Amino acid sequence: MATLDSLKPLADETPATWRDRLASRIDQWMTSPALNRWASNSPLTRWLVRRRSAQLFDLMAGFVHSQVLLTCVRLKLFEHVLEAPRTADELATLCRLPTAQLARLLDSAVALHLLERRGGGRYGLGRMGAPVVAHAGIRDMIEHNAVLYEDMRDPVALLRDPNSARMHTYWPYTEDPSGNPQAPAPVDQFARYSSLMSTSQRFVIEELLASYPFAEHRVVLDVGGGMGGWVSALARRHTHLQLHLFDLPPVASLAADNVQRQGLSNRITTHGGSFTKDALPRGADLVTLVRVAHDHPDADVRTVLRAIFEALPLGGALLLAEPMAQAGGAPEPSDPYFHFYLMAMGSGRLRTPAELTALMAEAGFTHIERVPNPIPLHAQLLVGRKARDDRRGFPGNTGNSVTLT
Ligand SMILES: C[S@@+](CC[C@H](N)C(=O)[O-])C[C@H]1O[C@@H](n2cnc3c(N)ncnc32)[C@H](O)[C@@H]1O
Repeated sequence: MATLDSLKPLADETPATWRDRLASRIDQWMTSPALNRWASNSPLTRWLVRRRSAQLFDLMAGFVHSQVLLTCVRLKLFEHVLEAPRTADELATLCRLPTAQLARLLDSAVALHLLERRGGGRYGLGRMGAPVVAHAGIRDMIEHNAVLYEDMRDPVALLRDPNSARMHTYWPYTEDPSGNPQAPAPVDQFARYSSLMSTSQRFVIEELLASYPFAEHRVVLDVGGGMGGWVSALARRHTHLQLHLFDLPPVASLAADNVQRQGLSNRITTHGGSFTKDALPRGADLVTLVRVAHDHPDADVRTVLRAIFEALPLGGALLLAEPMAQAGGAPEPSDPYFHFYLMAMGSGRLRTPAELTALMAEAGFTHIERVPNPIPLHAQLLVGRKARDDRRGFPGNTGNSVTLT
């Protein structure tokens, strides 16, 4: 039976403090009907009660909101109104739906800022709809999330038996519920997830290019590089670089075709293999690991990090990019999505920067630090070095590693 890595509880062993006692007292106040009545009626506190109520309503109704978004995507409403603002009747004709029903969707989309009202009873693109129509990757992820939505239909059942989730079979490299690697999957299954990764990788590519000094390197190896979107973008931006991509054989072969189509075969070499079994190609002074660690269990992450460390020359670096939990100690609003996605996938977990730092340090990396990036939602970045004089650090540097909390 496949088991998930457990999340490390953040709680420490220290006894309850005066803060904890105060928090318990506040719990009692916040749930007191009398106090709630008073707070709702007092002009001093009414705004707070209203704001909390609206936030709670959003939480409760969130599943409807995401289905409104999915419906807009499936009906291509954003594309229709981008062409020209349109009335409900015109949109109803385009979507082949009765106007009365479609009007409910249109008004819901306006409330969620996906659409907005324009003159003459027309609907135009709203501020939240604009990025959706501009990025195929967002639309693909919204459509893909329908699989997760099915798995979360009975969330308690999912928690009791994550192995029953359908998301498992979407990702052929995860273990099946009996604890074995899944039976060999048809090539089109690799093609399907690789194409989704390729469109959704766009955002991470921008973050990486904006944040790290790639000009300092000569040869870059991207491990778990998918269809090669990242190495291709890097090749175009930094024309002095030679690049390598390593992924499972069916994916590496898709990447090779993709690289050839773009005329980059003389700059990018693709390699098929498994990082849990095979040695990685040598010669790169920078390895990138983009959105890979989080969908693997700790044991596999240890293996791949060690393999990367072995493959690097002294002075080489690993740049790791992926969604991370609890940056700066405060949980991120995106954490629940990744916690449940990875549970349904049946493999991996969302890790904090500190946990990833510890895993990198265990593999031998030193001088591990955060690389700040503009929008740390899809990915945050960590860099670690293979120190020149082994574990004692770089010449001129005294610190061995940075502890991230
Ligand atoms: C979530 S995708 C990320 C792909 C790409 N880096 C991106 O950001 O779009 C994870 C990638 O790791 C690859 N992968 C999974 N297990 C692997 C293994 N054992 N050896 C090599 N690659 C593996 C998958 O084929 C897939 O391309």
